[in-house]
Amino acid sequence: MTTPAHADTMEADTARLREMDARAAVIESTSRGSDGGQPTYEGLSGVVISASAICDVNGERGTLSYRGYDIGELACRATFEETAHLLWHGDLPSRQELDSLTARLTAERELNGAADLILSALPTHVEPMDALRTAVSSLTCNGTNGQDPGSMQEDQAICLVAKFPTIVARFYRRRHSLPPIAPRPDLSHAANFLYMVQGHEPTTLQAQTMDLAMLLMAEHGFNASTFAARVTAATLSDMYAAVTSAVGTLKGPLHGGANEQAMRMMLEIGEVANVAPYIDDALARKQRIMGFGHRVYRHSADPRAAYLRASLFDLCAESGDFHFYELATTIAEVVHAKKGLYPNVDFYAAPVLYLLGIPLELFVTVFAVSRVPGWTAHVMEQYANNKLIRPLSTYVGPENRVYCPIDDRGH
Ligand SMILES: CC(C)(COP(=O)(O)OP(=O)(O)OC[C@H]1O[C@@H](n2cnc3c(N)ncnc32)[C@H](O)[C@@H]1OP(=O)(O)O)[C@@H](O)C(=O)NCCC(=O)NCCS
Repeated sequence: MTTPAHADTMEADTARLREMDARAAVIESTSRGSDGGQPTYEGLSGVVISASAICDVNGERGTLSYRGYDIGELACRATFEETAHLLWHGDLPSRQELDSLTARLTAERELNGAADLILSALPTHVEPMDALRTAVSSLTCNGTNGQDPGSMQEDQAICLVAKFPTIVARFYRRRHSLPPIAPRPDLSHAANFLYMVQGHEPTTLQAQTMDLAMLLMAEHGFNASTFAARVTAATLSDMYAAVTSAVGTLKGPLHGGANEQAMRMMLEIGEVANVAPYIDDALARKQRIMGFGHRVYRHSADPRAAYLRASLFDLCAESGDFHFYELATTIAEVVHAKKGLYPNVDFYAAPVLYLLGIPLELFVTVFAVSRVPGWTAHVMEQYANNKLIRPLSTYVGPENRVYCPIDDRGH
């Protein structure tokens, strides 16, 4: 029997299905080649999924801006903490706002009991990114869920940004049977991270370079991990769940994992003289050169790479050893000459992190530590104007099959 309530539901379902069909037609036409041929479904490449006021990634011009500020302007003048405020609130902080944010971040650095307990219970063979994902999901024990409005969301974002470095450093040191190092309230976010991993205070240049690298990686539009965070938030799940999804997505070698692979490649190449034969051989074997190519910056350089290349130069100048600068720039020249690809953010980030003394096993986690302000800004933007994210697929599997009892299947 169809009750009035059922009839309402059916009507609503029909309307929703019509809406979905219309959207599917848009997506399908976007996916078709210019000749209107078979759709290609290239991982949503070129498909605009939403409006956002956080970040402008312009692949044509090769530019990037956060909230209207060109990345070069921020790279030369802002700090990571200022950038977090900018991403969350849309404007750079006043002195008072920055002081307040810094104090709140510093106060939140220590882990809660649950995260600490989980990190000490994990076996040491667990990968740092897996430990990070597991511990981040436990931060929800801190309090209420994330779709609460206003200051509650900011509290959660601050908690996440503040605790990421402590989680990474704590598990790294446990993994290597080193005693844990408590966060130092007098150090900046970036300097404290280096301190908690290494056990000694970084030099001024090291702290500034780490801050810059983190600022450059803080946000990048609808990349895979941010998209994952927004998909999770769009179900009105909480901010910790959304950021946990993002960490899991960032882990893959085609996303955050590329910086570690790029560094391993540089170490394997070893000398400038080996660059051309190594790249020739890799390309002949159809291997991807990690740290090159980008889904959005297809015909231009990744604007973040130039600032990291300059930082690499500065670090080499401080030590007087230019080996990694020469090696990295030679690889970039050879790959561009042979394949037309530009280095992306991961390529120059790799030797920068290496020279900062970050262990290779932590490279991907550094990307995660840096990206939390961006992820959380997107989660807040998603909550502010939410619509469930639910795309469609075209079914291409078999149809009209008949169930066969298990004993009659013949295999
Ligand atoms: C980032 C990346 C996944 C973008 O991929 P995409 O937009 O899907 O581009 P495609 O995979 O369609 O590649 C297009 C072409 O460029 C080639 N290409 C792209 N990146 C390449 C790389 N790093 N090394 C060698 N060839 C590459 C592909 O082989 C393909 O060539 P083909 O048309 O001859 O087959 C891709 O460039 C890549 O795998 N890079 C290495 C991983 C990396 O550095 N990731 C960090 C991104 S910030």
